[in-house]
Amino acid sequence: MTTPTVRRAVCPGSFDPVTNGHLDIVSRAARLFDEVVVAVGVNVSKNRLFTPDERLDMLRTACAGLDNVRVEGFTGLLTDFCRDRDIVAIVKGLRAVSDFDYELQMAQMNASLEPAVETVFVPTSPAYSFLASSLVKEVAAFGGDVSGLVPGFVHERLVQRLAERAAEAG
Ligand code: PNS
Repeated sequence: MTTPTVRRAVCPGSFDPVTNGHLDIVSRAARLFDEVVVAVGVNVSKNRLFTPDERLDMLRTACAGLDNVRVEGFTGLLTDFCRDRDIVAIVKGLRAVSDFDYELQMAQMNASLEPAVETVFVPTSPAYSFLASSLVKEVAAFGGDVSGLVPGFVHERLVQRLAERAAEAG
């Protein structure tokens, strides 16, 4: 008898910070695949609010209840990351038509590389269709209430970090 193949997928992103929209996609991917790796892009050249270790730490806490999900950092090409871990699919949430152009371009590029990796698009739940880490940070920086858009412990760290940044800026 042959051993059944494990169907492993990746949910990649910057996660600066993780939002409830991200977690919706990760949890749904976890129901579609045997295993899911949440891959946190740790490209040093980009200006982020949270360090790679902080983003990884927040995701690990947020995904702790999902048994078939693990969190890793990655640099370089996503398709190389997939080859090294026998990952067969990239799972991406699509919020609106505006996401589609860029996501289609990336999906087709990733399918054209060696190894070719397929992308599975999951429609974002309507409750999160406007949600983006960048907007969460902007609204929170101006004192808006984003407590319903990120996990509670992420909200605490976000408010604290923005206060630190504001103090630094004088
Ligand atoms: O949360 P983001 O910033 O939209 O995530 C973008 C990410 C990290 C998924 C994307 O930039 C990526 O896959 N980067 C890895 C480098 C790579 O493989 N580039 C070619 C993409 S076709």
